[in-house]
Parts: sequence; C-alpha cells; structure tokens
Amino acid sequence: MQKIIFATNNQHKIEEIRAILKGQYEIMTLEEAGIHIEIPEPYDTLEENAREKATTVHKLTGLSCFGEDTGLETRSLNGEPGVKSARYAGEERDFAANIEKLLRNLEGKTDRSARFRTVISLIHNGRERQFEGLCEGKITETPRGEGGFGYDPVFIPQNATLTFAEMSMEEKNRYSHRAKAMKQLIQFLLHA
Ligand code: IMP
Repeated sequence: MQKIIFATNNQHKIEEIRAILKGQYEIMTLEEAGIHIEIPEPYDTLEENAREKATTVHKLTGLSCFGEDTGLETRSLNGEPGVKSARYAGEERDFAANIEKLLRNLEGKTDRSARFRTVISLIHNGRERQFEGLCEGKITETPRGEGGFGYDPVFIPQNATLTFAEMSMEEKNRYSHRAKAMKQLIQFLLHA
C-alpha cells in the first residue's frame, strides 16, 4: 500500500483522515515517520502555511507528503479568526479560550454565518498540488457537544442542526471542509 506522510501532530485530524481513506493509502504521522519537529505556520495565508508544512517534510524525507492548514472565517468579523484560528486568544492555542473570544466578539451581531476553509498542499512525485475544502455554516450562541476539537462545539454546518462536536466523526466528515479537500486529493492520487 502506498505510504504518505501527513505533516501534522494533530491526532484528531489524523483520525478524521484515516476514516476517509478507509485503508486505500497508509497515512504516516510525523511521529511514525520519525520526524520530531514543531511544524511551522509562519505565514498570513492558509495556502503558504500548508505549502510550508509539506515542503518541510518533503525536504527531510523525500517521500510523498501533504500538509494542511485550516481557518474559521466569520462574515461579520471580516473573516476573523481566519489563518490565526489556532492562536486567536494567544500563543497557548487554547481551544476554550479561542471559543470564548469568538463568542465575545460575536455578541450582538445578527449575522453569525461562518465557514471553515482547508487548504491541503500535496507533494507527490516532486510536484506540488493544492486542494481547497469549504464548509459553510454558523456560530452558535453557546458551545454544545463533547466530540471533535477546536471550534467544533460552536459550529453548525449548513443543512444540519447539530454542532460538529455533537456529531460522530463519520457524520462530521459528511460535511467537513477537511473531508472535501481530502476527497479531491484522493481523486488526484487515483489518476496520478
Ligand atoms: P490548523 O492551524 O490547521 O491546525 O488549525 C487552526 C485551528 O483551527 C485549530 O487549532 C482549531 O482551533 C481550528 N480548526 C481546524 N480544523 C478544525 C475543525 O475541523 N473543527 C474545529 N476547529 C478546527
């Protein structure tokens, strides 16, 4: 089976993506690939950060790999927190503090629409390709649910009533930004 390194240390993301791949490809985590570094996210765009993650790992291993970066973009806050989603409330990358700040900033706003945007950068056979996945939805007034990670407890995708955190992983993957970008990556690999 073809092996691909996913340039992340985020266990939730790895589990989501393994559920989508259903064994078609073997995904190696950074740890499994013997790479013990903090992957940088230094740029102001998801595209550049995703590319940075993939090229960092490709330079170290020479193997096929992909990096992804995701942001939550809210309309009434002009796209905030966007590329800064992980560190919205500070360098600690604290999910609860990020949610608290988001809900505070949305207080009194009638438009609570938001979307997740994922960009995946794949380096395969020495060439880079990017894939984008969008999930439109809205931000709740209060957090709901125990599953998932990040902003999942306050995000309800369009045509759903549950937050991502109230869904099973399979259910979340039916709507999610990351699943949509991954499906494009899989289609590309199938024809590569
Ligand atoms: P990253 O830089 O791509 O790891 O993601 C930035 C931040 O966005 C994460 O720390 C999470 O807070 C949030 N995030 C990314 N993907 C998701 C998701 O699928 N659900 C909820 N939050 C997410």
